[in-house]
Amino acid sequence: MAHQSEMSKSLCFGSVCRGSLLVFLCHLVCDFWLLANPGMAMAVDVPFIPKQILIFGGNGFIGTRTSELLLQADHNLTLVSRGNWYWDSAYLVRSHVSHITCDRTTKIDRCSELTEFVQNSEGFDAVIDFSAYHPQYMEDALDLLKGKVGLYIYISTDSVYEICDKNHTEPSLETDAVRPSNSQRRAELEAGQSYANFKLACEEVLARYRSEGYGPPYVSLRLPDVVGPRDSTYRWWIYQLWMRLHEYLEKKVEVPEKYESQPMSLVYVEDVAKTIFTIVQKKSKYASSQSPEEPLIFDQAYNLALQETPTLLELLKDIREELNLTESLEIKTSKQADTIRLFPSVEMGPINIAKAEKLLDWSPTDYKTVVKETVAFYENAIKVEYFDEPRKYMMRTMESYFTSKPYDVVRGLREIYKITFGQQRDEL
Ligand SMILES: *[C@@H]1O[C@H](CO)[C@@H](O)[C@H](O)[C@H]1NC(C)=O
Ligand SMILES: *[C@@H]1O[C@H](CO)[C@@H](O)[C@H](O)[C@H]1NC(C)=O
Ligand SMILES: *[C@@H]1O[C@H](CO)[C@@H](O)[C@H](O)[C@H]1NC(C)=O
Repeated sequence: MAHQSEMSKSLCFGSVCRGSLLVFLCHLVCDFWLLANPGMAMAVDVPFIPKQILIFGGNGFIGTRTSELLLQADHNLTLVSRGNWYWDSAYLVRSHVSHITCDRTTKIDRCSELTEFVQNSEGFDAVIDFSAYHPQYMEDALDLLKGKVGLYIYISTDSVYEICDKNHTEPSLETDAVRPSNSQRRAELEAGQSYANFKLACEEVLARYRSEGYGPPYVSLRLPDVVGPRDSTYRWWIYQLWMRLHEYLEKKVEVPEKYESQPMSLVYVEDVAKTIFTIVQKKSKYASSQSPEEPLIFDQAYNLALQETPTLLELLKDIREELNLTESLEIKTSKQADTIRLFPSVEMGPINIAKAEKLLDWSPTDYKTVVKETVAFYENAIKVEYFDEPRKYMMRTMESYFTSKPYDVVRGLREIYKITFGQQRDEL
């Protein structure tokens, strides 16, 4: 009985209930346990005031994990998105938050539900923006939210360095994100780089609103390629499954020659989510007054990445090792222009993380652990029935790009993972 009670206790006060598919059952156990142990429910004497948090996105890769952490701390989340729910975010997030449907590619005043919600709200301790890909979205959001935001956290990218002239060859520093003053050079760099251009422009809007006195305190987080569980770009998983099924696929596992020696930055989804969570926790009020230690970290951009900077070839070899395929699978390099390359998505090389280490206590997970945990997640995900959509996407990808004999993919999945899906259902 004592043992059972301990278990219930950890269930109720840990994070298990929230993330579980058995939320209902879980709460039933918790309610019973609290009923039997009334002291526990009253043990908290500092009144807890949930933070009001508005999230643009919050249903994708980093967003889902971030929302989960904020929900575990009992904050009040309102998510604004087009309404797609990736992986199991519908279970993990949707059922615990308020959701407003809004497509940011249309003018924000068309999103009447959002504008009404903001107008009726007293304010937000934090806004977390995962989905601003154009400066117009940023301006629309800041205009709508004027005077109501304690802190604006913008998820930016290391791609911003692609359109800037770096005057050194070391990893990019935050201060390197300066557009060339020569307009011809600027245009040259921006050609074909609208993603980088628009993301940097969003950062610039945030900074301008702030310096002109009507924008909120902000933090821009510049992320390289993000890896970890529930990646909605599937890039890591594609490499992993390619290696795992290599005997059944025609396309040989290979990387472009250039990426044999080019180091890259990566960041772990878990580390990013935790850092966003910590920054939100630090911000105490949505009034614009700040406590003395706060201003130091705000109103600037930070690079976040793992300490290690593997090459693509090293990354694939490390995944291969985790899969126990080192003996049986050779990874080649190729000079062919059409060789698949899913990482890195930038050409400017790694980023320097010293600033985040100093000011944000950035202390990323060790690279080997990231590889281990991520590989384990996808090895399991392929067998999880409620990941139906991601699994089908993966199967179609293997069938379309890695072999001309789709049935071999089905056979590989059956023989390696002992699973049958897709094909069987199609026959019904
Ligand atoms: C969360 O905030 C919304 C909007 O202010 C409010 O209607 C709702 O009751 C809050 N929920 C909780 C659990 O505090
Ligand atoms: C390099 O660029 C940075 C940022 O644009 C600038 O602050 C710095 O003075 C430059 N250094 C040199 C040696 O040109
Ligand atoms: C690799 O081998 C280890 C040790 O035998 C085992 O625990 C692990 O499950 C294997 N991994 C895979 C993906 O087969």
